[in-house]
Amino acid sequence: MHTTTIGLWALAAGVVSAKTCFNATVEVDISARNGVFDNIKTPETNLDATTFALASTKTSVNITEQALSGYATVGGLYNISTQYCVPKNSEGSGHTFQVLTHGMGFDKSYWDLPYHNFNYSYVDYALSRGYHTFSYDRLGIGKSTHGDAKNEIQSFLEIEALAELTRKLRDGSISGIKKPSKVVHVGHSFGSAQTVALSAMYPDLSDGLVLTGFSASIASMPVFISGANFQQASLNHPSGCPATPRPSYSSGYLVNSDIGTNQFLFFYPGNFDEGILSYAEHNKQPMTVGELMTMTGLPSSSAFTGPVYVIDGENDIAFCGGDCSYTTDSTASIPAGVKAVFPKASAFAAYIHPRTGHGINLHYNSTAAYKQINDFLGAQGLMSINDHEARHHHDF
Ligand SMILES: *[C@@H]1O[C@H](CO)[C@@H](O)[C@H](O)[C@H]1NC(C)=O
Ligand SMILES: *[C@@H]1O[C@H](CO)[C@@H](O)[C@H](O)[C@H]1NC(C)=O
Ligand SMILES: *[C@@H]1O[C@H](CO)[C@@H](O)[C@H](O)[C@H]1NC(C)=O
Ligand SMILES: *[C@@H]1O[C@H](CO)[C@@H](O)[C@H](O)[C@H]1NC(C)=O
Ligand SMILES: *[C@@H]1O[C@H](CO)[C@@H](O)[C@H](O)[C@H]1NC(C)=O
Repeated sequence: MHTTTIGLWALAAGVVSAKTCFNATVEVDISARNGVFDNIKTPETNLDATTFALASTKTSVNITEQALSGYATVGGLYNISTQYCVPKNSEGSGHTFQVLTHGMGFDKSYWDLPYHNFNYSYVDYALSRGYHTFSYDRLGIGKSTHGDAKNEIQSFLEIEALAELTRKLRDGSISGIKKPSKVVHVGHSFGSAQTVALSAMYPDLSDGLVLTGFSASIASMPVFISGANFQQASLNHPSGCPATPRPSYSSGYLVNSDIGTNQFLFFYPGNFDEGILSYAEHNKQPMTVGELMTMTGLPSSSAFTGPVYVIDGENDIAFCGGDCSYTTDSTASIPAGVKAVFPKASAFAAYIHPRTGHGINLHYNSTAAYKQINDFLGAQGLMSINDHEARHHHDF
């Protein structure tokens, strides 16, 4: 066994957010069977990043297969940067936690956007419904340990980090964090893909799944990859935008090129505040070539027996090609197609949230999406003990 290193436990409550949160660094000891991608070189320049995008979007080629020279066990001790937030009236005996896994292009702040006085904060909404929230920067991203962008920071190892964080939470072994009675996993995009894989590999770790910005269709991945116009995170100088290069990210950590590509990937025109688009571009986070090559090949079926909720913006590019209602197969919609992944789920619902792109949380009306999610959880008996009471005090 290993120990947990707690960084500075900091009370982040303040006049601004009016909530009680704790930042902590949690050390995890993990390993996974990762792909070894020795048949391609890590992209070093911006032109190399474009070359990688061309190779990744070619109709006739599976880049993962082409690059793969074998598998190897990769692992060690890594630091994960986490934020735990506590609802008001948290004295009761039931503590339902929502574990929040962000997607590509963001870090954990996706769930707690400070823009407009936290008006877009998913965390604030979940707290108002009585849930405890636990968000974290995925391994490799933000304030969590960075690593080799090709052979180390891949889905497989990140899923182990999510699993280990969940075990520590369930054990009550992260000091200062209450032991949950139930744990719901909530993902966005690549974070949803990891949440699905977690439920397939370790079905007992979760009591419910919420998959936002996700579908079982990978048909539009090339649109996402080409739309990003990848550049090296360490070199990217976007025009007309304050984001600056970040030398702490090594070669092979790629970002979308500029504010226009950020809009393309995450926003639906006419339904967002341009200020939050600038915020997103300013705070954008990279994705690694290792992640991009291991997005597929994750478990495509899960024996998970709890409830599953899928919610997508109607105009999601990455998982719906811009129209989630459109489908050529027998399912009612692209999000509804996720049902086939969960043959044993106790309940399944798929919801299309109107006039919204892939980055659901960044749109006007995002709190209505949050209500959909938390209403579903409540209806499935995953209501936090003080949800009833909390709802009398908050006017969402
Ligand atoms: C906690 O982390 C958040 C997000 O990373 C940051 O904005 C905030 O300043 C931190 N709070 C403290 C007290 O360190
Ligand atoms: C995690 O962070 C702590 C505090 O900064 C540091 O002492 C420790 O070496 C780090 N562990 C790893 C695995 O990076
Ligand atoms: C917060 O959101 C609500 C509902 O979307 C909106 O009516 C209100 O103007 C927003 N407030 C701020 C400060 O953005
Ligand atoms: C691409 O190849 C990898 C490695 O063989 C495999 O796991 C993955 O499922 C393939 N992806 C697709 C879309 O066929
Ligand atoms: C806001 O979202 C809710 C829930 O998806 C939806 O019913 C409503 O029509 C949306 N409102 C607008 C103005 O898009």
